[in-house]
Amino acid sequence: MKKICLLNDIPDREARTFSYDDNYSMLVYRNGDNIYAYINSCPHAGVPLEWNADHFMSMDGLLLQCGTHGAQFEPPTGKCVYGPCKGAHLHKIDTKIVDKTIYRV
Ligand code: FES
Repeated sequence: MKKICLLNDIPDREARTFSYDDNYSMLVYRNGDNIYAYINSCPHAGVPLEWNADHFMSMDGLLLQCGTHGAQFEPPTGKCVYGPCKGAHLHKIDTKIVDKTIYRV
């Protein structure tokens, strides 16, 4: 397992960016004690999703949104529910929380 961050490093119902590999970053979304992590690459055109640094959420705060063409994704599933890649999914990264620390597994 590789440590990502502490659970409390991510504000509730927001996402933050972390390094993944030489080509991609990953985004980690928190909802209480639940964490959902994805490669930070939109299935539409392969660009990072955030509007500005660590700014991933739609106006209503419920969905992850791509800043380029506005695709919106369900945080728990990574499924695009609105926009040009509707039905596509973000690439999920397996994580685990141990003692309030988030790990990539
Ligand atoms: S690149 Fe994300 S919606 Fe087009």
